[in-house]
Amino acid sequence: MQAATAYAHPNIALVKYWGKSNDELNIPATPSLAITLGDLRTTSHIEESASEVVVLDGERVTDVKLERWLELLRKQYDLPPLHVESSSDFPANSGLASSASGFAALTVAISSAFDLRLSLQEQCEWARRGSGSAARSLHGGFVALEPEKTLCTVSQVLGENEWDLSIVIAITSDRAKTTGSTAGMTASRDTSPFYDGWLRATVEAYELALVATRSKDFEALVRIAEGSCRQMHALMLSTEPALIYWNAATLNCIETVTCMREAGIKVFYTIDAGSHLKAICQKGDAMNVSDQLRQVDGVHSVLVSSIGGPAGIVR
Ligand code: DP6
Repeated sequence: MQAATAYAHPNIALVKYWGKSNDELNIPATPSLAITLGDLRTTSHIEESASEVVVLDGERVTDVKLERWLELLRKQYDLPPLHVESSSDFPANSGLASSASGFAALTVAISSAFDLRLSLQEQCEWARRGSGSAARSLHGGFVALEPEKTLCTVSQVLGENEWDLSIVIAITSDRAKTTGSTAGMTASRDTSPFYDGWLRATVEAYELALVATRSKDFEALVRIAEGSCRQMHALMLSTEPALIYWNAATLNCIETVTCMREAGIKVFYTIDAGSHLKAICQKGDAMNVSDQLRQVDGVHSVLVSSIGGPAGIVR
């Protein structure tokens, strides 16, 4: 093998994935649509090692999810023990999709290091086995994931240069999330009385989002994306025990985004399994949106990103 280093960007879903139809194969129960964040990245380096070592953001860790995933790969390919080193230039483990960019980058690194010659679709499949949302980070731009019975199709709906939007991320906490996505999804499916309704609403939202994205209909995306976000968090709130990812600053940010929109700025919000809020706006409004979010009570800092391209190898 050759040592290899690869990168991938995180992505944020406009139509959310929260629930699996097959836990073992990690098949999402619904389709989802996301955008890739070009200015944030995770870099993963792998090389052969006497025993498996995983270093995340400079710290040696035991990562059960990652170890299980490496075992899956080993069933298919003849991989030696690896030294894996991954780091992100944004806060990890707090709803900013570091596991998505991490698994995507690792898939690219492993495929290159062992000359596996995986197609993009095969890389998406491997990344998805690690984390459902990771499959979307292999592509750039607006990315759709459609589940089938035992696999998923991942495709680009709009290229990274086709719609000049920016993503402003309001960091509202420095704590790691308390319940990870995998455990949270299982709990929602097993305990929420709203789960079936959520699945139906998401399939509908996905179809509408495809049309809105292809026609660059910002107003339609506002309704669809904020709707999907609020429905997912309503599902989380109705889970037993409740999954409450928002904090006071998240609510303050929602209010600010809503006020900005009432004042005529084209902007909408989305929030994942964490308390940070992501505001999507026209590129020309990004400075204004980030200035306003920075001043919101409880916001620690603000990151701004353009829509980014696919994962790749660091040469
Ligand atoms: C809220 O992809 O992290 O970000 O497949 O169990 O690893 P697993 O889940 P993961 O879940 C992402 C959840 C989300 C919504 C989304 O990105 O679609």
